[in-house]
This record gives sequence, C-alpha cells and structure tokens, in this order.
Amino acid sequence: MYTPKNVFTNNDLTKYMETSDAWIQERTGIKERRYADRTGETTTTMGVAAAAIAIERAGITPQDIDFIVFATLSPDYYFPGCGVLLQRAMKMKEIGALDVRNQCSGFLYALSVADQFIKTGMYKNILVVGSEKHSFGLDFSTRGRNVSVIFGDGAGAVVLQPTAAPNQGILSTHLHSDGESAEMLAMFNPGTHANHWTEQKLADFNDAEIADMFMSNAMVDKAQNFPNMDGPAVFKKAVVKFPEVIMEALAANGLQSTDINMLIPHQANLRISQFVQQKLGLRDDQVHNNIQKFGNTTAASVPIALCEAWEEGKIKAGDLVCLAAFGSGFTWASALLRW
Ligand SMILES: CC(C)(COP(=O)(O)OP(=O)(O)OC[C@H]1O[C@@H](n2cnc3c(N)ncnc32)[C@H](O)[C@@H]1OP(=O)(O)O)[C@@H](O)C(=O)NCCC(=O)NCCS
Repeated sequence: MYTPKNVFTNNDLTKYMETSDAWIQERTGIKERRYADRTGETTTTMGVAAAAIAIERAGITPQDIDFIVFATLSPDYYFPGCGVLLQRAMKMKEIGALDVRNQCSGFLYALSVADQFIKTGMYKNILVVGSEKHSFGLDFSTRGRNVSVIFGDGAGAVVLQPTAAPNQGILSTHLHSDGESAEMLAMFNPGTHANHWTEQKLADFNDAEIADMFMSNAMVDKAQNFPNMDGPAVFKKAVVKFPEVIMEALAANGLQSTDINMLIPHQANLRISQFVQQKLGLRDDQVHNNIQKFGNTTAASVPIALCEAWEEGKIKAGDLVCLAAFGSGFTWASALLRW
C-alpha cells in the first residue's frame, strides 16, 4: 500500500466548508484522510509506489510481470488508462494493460479478471492495482460537503501468481451490478450522455449544431463537474448487498460466516461495516477497518486494508479471508481467499 504523507483532518475541512469533526465522525467514522501532493503525485504514481512494494514482496522484478489490471475512477488522463502509464513508469515489457472502471468494487472486479487469467494458465505474474486521487476532483465548498468529507487518496496493489497447493489462494469471486440506480452515485461530466438518461438536466451543453458538447463553460460555472451522491440511498442498498454477496461466496464454498478469519470490507462508511459485521455475527478481531485514518479510497480501499491487516499480523497462512465491496453503478462483489 502507498498513502500520501499529507494528512487532512476533519477540522482542516472546516476551513473550506460548513461541517464539523463531530458530524463527520458520527455519520462516517472518519477522523482524517490523506491527500496526494497536488502536483507531485498522480493516481498512477501512487499505484506505482504500491506496485513496487508488492513486486518486491513477491520476490520478482517489474520485468517479470506479464499482465496489469489497474482499477480507478480518478485516472491521470480521460484516456489512455493508468495501466499503460504504470507500464511505462515501471519499465515493464510490452505486456497487456487493462483499466477497470468499477469504482468502489473496482479492485474486486480487477482481482476477479486476474484470477481467471491465472486459473486458465494464461499468465503467471499479474499486477492488480487500485489507486485514487480523489482530492483533485472534489467540491470543497459547502455545496459538495456530503461527498467531499468521505473520500481520500491512496493506492494498494497485489501480485497474483498460480499455486499448486490445493484449496489455497482465491477460492472464488462473485460480481454483480444493477444499473437502475446508476445516477445515485456518479460523476456525469464530462461525458457524452447529452442529458439522455434522466428527466433532470445533468449538464448545460453547448446547443450549437456542431460544437464541443463534451465540456462547456456553463458546466464548470454551475459546478456540474463534481461527483453526485444520494448518501441515504447508497447506504440503504449497501447494507443489503454487502451481507448478501458475502453469504453468496461462503455458500459457493460450503462455508459459514463463522469460518471467516478476516473480513476486509470496502471502506465506504464505518457504520456500514459495523452493520455488516453485526449481521454476519463476527467479532471485532474478524473485521479490519481503517476508514478512520484514510477515508474512502474507492478502488484502493480493499488492497490498502488488506495490506494493513497483513502487516499488523492479523492475517496468517491458512486463514480464510473475505473481501467485499459495494459502490457506484451500483456494482458489488466479493472474493474468498485461503491465505
Ligand atoms: C453521506 C452520509 C454520511 C450522509 O449521512 P446521512 O445521515 O445520510 O445524512 P443526510 O445525507 O441525510 O444529511 C443530513 C443533513 O446533514 C447535512 N450534511 C451533509 N453533509 C454534511 C457534512 N459534511 N457536514 C455537515 N452536515 C452535512 C445535510 O445537508 C443534511 O442537512 P438537512 O437535514 O438540513 O437537509 C451517509 O448517507 C452515507 O455514508 N451514505 C453512504 C455513502 C457511501 O458509502 N458512499 C460511498 C459508497 S462506496
């Protein structure tokens, strides 16, 4: 994992918007988050920093990696993706690089893609990265406070390799989506939607016969270029889908929630994680949360929490580890691993 040095507390946010440490802690559990250096760090450079540690710990070199899967919602460029920027920065061979755009469940989707390539024997060393530089794209005025206080920057990475040991590694992955509520947690602009999907106007486009519709001054003036979130709706769906997709993974492997040694839930909101823990009947030592320190780092949250739990000695060989995530789309996913 790599997290930027710059710590931004809840009190620091009160300098920019009407909010309070008490409100943020009570509703989300977050005390502080990290923000990337504004010009010195990008989503890719943070991904590279995490990847370098993962590659070293796997006992290989960047040249041994034979496929990259990079999950993010805050890419350096609209296109090309961060995968190729990482490939260039780490001087890797001319290997495949795939970007995954599944927001909070992005790391689990990326992991599941890598898992399939490993299981078919196609690749031997796959780098899976989740990284976000949210701080570059948030509305730090009071208008955007329901979103901005939640998100933080950081990166996590893993190297996936095949194992000959039976019943070890990734046992299964489970992916879902329901686009019915796509607009409830979304960043609409810039985009090509042309107000097609909703009665509500999501952007002020230039209405000339032929023009650069993609971005307009009005869009910027009206702050239409920031993320949009219906917090209570997201909360309600998350507390249903998290337990559901975890139980699905357990059932697929003939296991029960009490078999889980460590649950790493996507760090969306501490209250969501606590609800899931209670629903599954897990003890505090069976769940790892770190949203208090890092906020919600979207595609990076699961690998950061996984890394931290492992570094703290909370995950041992043979442990059953469950990863689960829910987010924009809505999309949600789980993975069960025998460490
Ligand atoms: C965002 C979230 C913390 C808001 O908490 P909530 O209890 O649902 O609060 P509401 O959105 O109903 O807002 C309650 C009030 O607090 C205000 N408020 C919103 N953000 C605030 C902030 N940062 N500081 C102070 N007040 C704030 C609202 O304006 C509202 O005021 P009003 O009652 O005068 O209209 C909560 O809904 C949540 O965590 N949802 C899930 C979000 C999530 O997990 N997103 C990522 C998914 S991966």
